[in-house]
Amino acid sequence: MKTGWFEKKVKDFSSIGGYEKPELQQDSLKLDSNENYVIAKQFQTDIIQKARKNLDVREYPLGGVERLVQAISKFTKIPASMIGVGNGSDQIIDLILSNFGSKQTKVLTSNPTFGFFEERCKLYSIPLIAIPFSKYMKLDIKEFTKQSKNADILYLDSPNNPTGFQFTKNDLQKLVKSFDGLVIIDEAYGEFGKYSLAKQVKSQNNLVVIQTVSKSFGLAGLRLGYFLASKQFTEAFNQVLQYPYPLSTITIESGILALEKSHVMKDAIQVIKQERTRIIETLRKYKTFEVFDSEANFVLFDAHGSYQRIFTALSEQGISIRKLGKIGSHEGCLRVTIGTKEMNSKFLLAIRDLLR
Ligand SMILES: Cc1ncc(COP(=O)(O)O)c(C=O)c1O
Repeated sequence: MKTGWFEKKVKDFSSIGGYEKPELQQDSLKLDSNENYVIAKQFQTDIIQKARKNLDVREYPLGGVERLVQAISKFTKIPASMIGVGNGSDQIIDLILSNFGSKQTKVLTSNPTFGFFEERCKLYSIPLIAIPFSKYMKLDIKEFTKQSKNADILYLDSPNNPTGFQFTKNDLQKLVKSFDGLVIIDEAYGEFGKYSLAKQVKSQNNLVVIQTVSKSFGLAGLRLGYFLASKQFTEAFNQVLQYPYPLSTITIESGILALEKSHVMKDAIQVIKQERTRIIETLRKYKTFEVFDSEANFVLFDAHGSYQRIFTALSEQGISIRKLGKIGSHEGCLRVTIGTKEMNSKFLLAIRDLLR
């Protein structure tokens, strides 16, 4: 073995950079990570208290994932044999990429796409064909269809993070049907959008639809994601690729209880959609901004030359949003999560005062 190989490898990893998390600001109005505060804290308190009764953390959670999968099956109306879970959808994405991706497998996606996905492709040296968004923050379906012939994996977050864009159902269905490699549709924000492709996994063996309780159920800290796919893929993933015990007992029991209360999630989605319209309409009144449509629980806007000033001024007032900067021809993009009515009003008032 050559000396220095380990140091070189560590240096190579360090040069990749990795996924950039937002800065931790104590007691800030947290509108930077697409979390869901519309579901009150009481929801999780009740679930976790009830879950405690079924816990024995001296044991590995043998049979636990199987019970959770039954609950997901009831919720999604997809057979249990077509469902797998992960420590957040992040882990599902990671396992798929590390096992199916290589220097030889080209991934077709958008630019921008989900940051973690892109970072993982870099880590595994998987080449990307990334179709840029137009200046109106839309994607061109024709361009995807054209490039799909050159790719082995298609990854789309639908709706997309950070733009909030979602193809029409018809367009995405057609694209997915015509692709004969591996198709990953990441529906982390699916509940805020217009449709889901979940049912399509029943008729298409190369399709994996990923969902999560992080955004819709307001349970990001639980780290619970799941996927829907063909029986063959699911069996291989669950038996061979996934760890024997990927989720903690607390996550399993709380997840089961949360899914039984999906009406709470559905009510919150209604509020978030209404608030999304209010934020978009209010921000559009300011000439300083270009505000893009969104099918997710956040809104992207270009604040042009003022973006740095706005980001810093909000931050000084304890309001944390996401600074993205340049996206295509847009120089100063900022992304704000839709919070509770109160949080959103504070954000909008702060913006009003800044632009006075
Ligand atoms: C598009 C997309 N996919 C997946 C995730 C990760 O979700 P999870 O919390 O389930 O790991 C995120 C989180 O921001 C996301 O934006």
